[in-house]
Amino acid sequence: MTDPIDLAQRETLTQSDDLAQRDKRHIWHPFTQHQTESDPIALTHAKGAVLYDTQGNEILDLISSWWTVTHGHCHPAINQAMREQAEKMSHVMFSGFTHEPAVQLAEALTTSLGGELSRVFFSDNGSTSVEVALKVAYQYWQNKGEGKRRGFIAFDGGYHGDTFGAMAVGKGSGFFSSFDGLLTEVHLAPYAPTWIGDDEVEVREQESIDALSKLIAERGDEIAGLIIEPLFQGAGGMRFCRPSFIEKVVTTARQAGILIIFDEIAAGFGRTGKLFAHHHTEIRPDIICLSKGLTAGTLPLSVTVIATHIYDNFLGEDFSKALAHGHSFTGNPLACAIANRSLSLFEEEATLSRLQEIEHKHRQFAERLGSHEKAERVRVCGSLLAFDLAGETGDYKSEASLKLRDYYISHGLNIRPLGPVVYLMPPYCITDAQLDTAYEGLIKGLDVICN
Ligand SMILES: Cc1ncc(COP(=O)(O)O)c(C=O)c1O
Repeated sequence: MTDPIDLAQRETLTQSDDLAQRDKRHIWHPFTQHQTESDPIALTHAKGAVLYDTQGNEILDLISSWWTVTHGHCHPAINQAMREQAEKMSHVMFSGFTHEPAVQLAEALTTSLGGELSRVFFSDNGSTSVEVALKVAYQYWQNKGEGKRRGFIAFDGGYHGDTFGAMAVGKGSGFFSSFDGLLTEVHLAPYAPTWIGDDEVEVREQESIDALSKLIAERGDEIAGLIIEPLFQGAGGMRFCRPSFIEKVVTTARQAGILIIFDEIAAGFGRTGKLFAHHHTEIRPDIICLSKGLTAGTLPLSVTVIATHIYDNFLGEDFSKALAHGHSFTGNPLACAIANRSLSLFEEEATLSRLQEIEHKHRQFAERLGSHEKAERVRVCGSLLAFDLAGETGDYKSEASLKLRDYYISHGLNIRPLGPVVYLMPPYCITDAQLDTAYEGLIKGLDVICN
């Protein structure tokens, strides 16, 4: 065993080395090939849409720090809510206890979601929220005595997180082939992506629905649930679909009694221009997963919101029908207080109106982008703008995407292509001037790197 580091030693280390070097010595970063990737950028603080590094450089956070930040970094009202709650109670176990921030949040979410979605199960991140949804759907059928329904339907290109259940339904994203042998069987249905000027979307949707109908005709009575990301698939390539596609998928699956799970972990809380993406449709799910923007991008928290008729099936005289699931930080009061404050900011700051303006600006830029020789299949949805790099295929960290990412970051823009897909997903506080800077820089990167 080595001696614990003493204070003087720690001081010397801190002064003699820069942060990135110290990081490199001990930290294993997410989704990173440490042998080939450049050093991480050391940051000191963040404000609004801007990150500040240790050299004093400004970086526009154009992907909202993995799609979490909504109202902006270090929003004063959010910070105040966090401070106030910290003075009262930072954490308490959530079995046998409850508290105002969690109850208030559950009331607000179920009211906004409406319909049958009446029960909120708290966890800590998107993946666990999906894990809970899958377990609830599976056990629902077990509790009902229909144990044959054990399978799930998911979509090609879908991504739902990195825990085992989430990887199984997200295998269509292509990220998890190393774990194939450990993943439960999931049936993949074809997705129907679309973009501006796409005149074949109806054919593509019909083909997808035909394939889904065939799958359901053959295996429908073995399926517990279907999981889909409404309006856009995120990590699987920023693929957008029409609201009508989601409606057709759900109608088809419901005919076989399959439970519908919407994964709005990326799409919820305004990203698509409405508070929830499925509010662009007439459809309501049986279960919905929410995280990321839930706490405006400040603390880890997620919810799985569940319909009354499902919850009722977990009631009984003994524990055997109950959901055996929970995490140490379930329902954390700090995170819940922040989520409550974030929801009220949507009203106070008229955030959804600002989102309309951002979408309008994106659409104007999309016209210019559409005539760029390196941009194909340009698409816009709410605060999101995406396109494919013409002539590029390749995986998540293809050479072109890494070169572009390095170009953008060295020019003060946090834009991280997903393989051949380039996208912007800014925080909602971004100004018009900052958006213009982003658009100009984005085009310049294409001109310099892709020619
Ligand atoms: C649609 C979707 N589902 C689930 C997840 C997993 O969330 P987390 O990274 O918080 O586990 C993500 C993360 O990007 C996501 O985009």
